[in-house]
Amino acid sequence: MNSENKTKIRVNDLDLYYGEKQALNGINMDIRENEVTALIGPSGCGKSTFLRCLNRMNDLIDCVKINGEIYMDDEEILTTNDVISLRTRVGMVFQKANLFPMSIYDNVAYGPRNQGIKDKKTLDKIVEESLKGAAIWDEVKDRLKSPALGLSGGQQQRVCIARTIAMKPEVILMDEPTSALDPISTSKVEELMATLKDKYTIVIVTHNMQQAARISDKTGFFLNGELIEFNNTKEIFTVPHDKRTEDYITGRFG
Ligand SMILES: Nc1ncnc2c1ncn2[C@@H]1O[C@H](COP(=O)(O)OP(=O)(O)OP(=O)(O)O)[C@@H](O)[C@H]1O
Ligand SMILES: [Mg+2]
Repeated sequence: MNSENKTKIRVNDLDLYYGEKQALNGINMDIRENEVTALIGPSGCGKSTFLRCLNRMNDLIDCVKINGEIYMDDEEILTTNDVISLRTRVGMVFQKANLFPMSIYDNVAYGPRNQGIKDKKTLDKIVEESLKGAAIWDEVKDRLKSPALGLSGGQQQRVCIARTIAMKPEVILMDEPTSALDPISTSKVEELMATLKDKYTIVIVTHNMQQAARISDKTGFFLNGELIEFNNTKEIFTVPHDKRTEDYITGRFG
């Protein structure tokens, strides 16, 4: 834990409604640079909804209404017009690997090519560095032109992380990135997160409490759309301040 890291994202009084239904209620959170922030809580409590606010993915859902502010550095992101560049700065990795039906190389080069990078040497370098950054290079370097969908689930998830890194984001959002993986792939992705935070700010949703305890610096506990408790991970898991947090992390909940 490093409590002196500067704030990367500041969430002020965030409310979100799907039509009439309120899914987030008065969320305040400070997400620090070069830290892993874990979001935990029971199913349906608003974790994914919150994560999607951080790169405006909720824009894609009809009937969403949002109040409050989210600052990344000094820019308010809920009102920014430049959503494309926001999504470049804030990358996302989903629960299920969602690679395109093309080669490993083309998956990772996809974003940079979209940004107009055409030079082969430059692309080769981005692909190699991104795959190395996602701890998957050694496993795929001899088959870069093979279909990405021919990889195992755990390998595909790491290529998804490489694809995100290739965009040179500042923040990486991960929504249950290991829930579909076996224990070995899971520990590879967990080890990876420890190295990724040197360069990026990471926000991860997980149902796995041991995982949150192992990999995160800060933990937020959500319940029914509210952020019940947000603190240093060590504190949340050893001396939670709220009875509801304690009940949840000790498995006495629902
Ligand atoms: N597109 C949507 N339209 C309407 N309601 C939605 C939509 N997405 C989520 N909700 C509702 O918002 C609430 C929060 O959902 P959300 O997916 O954020 O929960 P979660 O904490 O990520 O749950 P899980 O752990 O199961 O993934 C739930 O009541 C859910 O039914
Ligand atoms: Mg979810």
